Amino acid sequence: MIDLRSDVKTKPTDLMRQAMATAEVGDDIAGEDPTVNELERRSAELLGKPAGLFVPSGTMGNLVGLLALTWPGQKMILHQEAHVFRWERAGLTRIAGLMTHPLPGAYGAFSPEDLEGAIWEPDLHSPTTGVVALENTHNRAGGTCLSVAQTRELCEVAHRRGVPVHVDGARIFNAAVALGVEARELAAPADSVTFCFSKGLGAPVGSMVCGETDFIDRAREYRKLLGGAMRQAGVVAAAGLVALEHELPRLGEDHEKARRLAETLSGLPGIVLDLRTVQTNLVRFEVRREDLTAPELCRRLGEQGIKAGAQSDTEIRFVTHRDQSFADLKVVCGALREILKGE
Ligand SMILES: Cc1ncc(COP(=O)(O)O)c(C=O)c1O
Repeated sequence: MIDLRSDVKTKPTDLMRQAMATAEVGDDIAGEDPTVNELERRSAELLGKPAGLFVPSGTMGNLVGLLALTWPGQKMILHQEAHVFRWERAGLTRIAGLMTHPLPGAYGAFSPEDLEGAIWEPDLHSPTTGVVALENTHNRAGGTCLSVAQTRELCEVAHRRGVPVHVDGARIFNAAVALGVEARELAAPADSVTFCFSKGLGAPVGSMVCGETDFIDRAREYRKLLGGAMRQAGVVAAAGLVALEHELPRLGEDHEKARRLAETLSGLPGIVLDLRTVQTNLVRFEVRREDLTAPELCRRLGEQGIKAGAQSDTEIRFVTHRDQSFADLKVVCGALREILKGE
């Protein structure tokens, strides 16, 4: 099977499995797991922050980051299609007690002007703004990147008004590769940045939160509160270290695969695809045909050994990753041509 549903479907590599089997471990709650400590140190270094905290998932990373930056009853400003808004079971409201102020914006980015307007002046009647959240790359927008300049400008508006910024950087290394910059340049203006090992980086479990030391100390308390503090977590952190060393440098290949898929798709009848959104490893498109819905197209691909998921009756997202070869992509393009063009 060729799996295009998500980069979370990647399986640990042989190198990861070897590293996991031989990892040096200890009790991480007591700070005694040398492999977790090394992963936190290395991750913080890559993002140019003083400290890191290993957490089980991106969802928990976002949540502990938000909890550590805010007080219950504050307002959070975020994109209206942000992952943390749409797909994290409203933890930011249920657990962090935050009210949301969603903003629109093309390609996953709201404007500095809209942000400025959303940070309300202090007033006895209004909630204060506790945090601004950005997402890089932006999942729902199709894996689009926020540039260093955009990140700086948005952070500058927030900071001028005394509001910290959290970056949900689940795929921040994809953004860095696509933009040709260091991840630390994208992280520098923000107060809190998360990223995931278990997506394009191919590790089985885990995400990282990075920021200032006192922020990470608070996030660590919240990780404990949420039940996310682990013991001999070095077993999984070991795979994260392999991911940073061996998988990060090859993320550009996934982008190249996505580009090839997108170019084939955009020439096929009844497919609506904005090539400007195809910047990293996601390809979002619409099926606009009388004779075929998006779920039906996925079903037909399934018959040819290709797993794909429709997001609605008209929308599909393909995700490229390490577990597909360029030859697999050729098979997918052939199947698409056959189904959509009858070739
Ligand atoms: C942008 C973004 N943030 C956060 C997450 C959540 O990560 P996890 O599934 O590890 O909780 C995802 C997952 O796809 C994501 O795409």
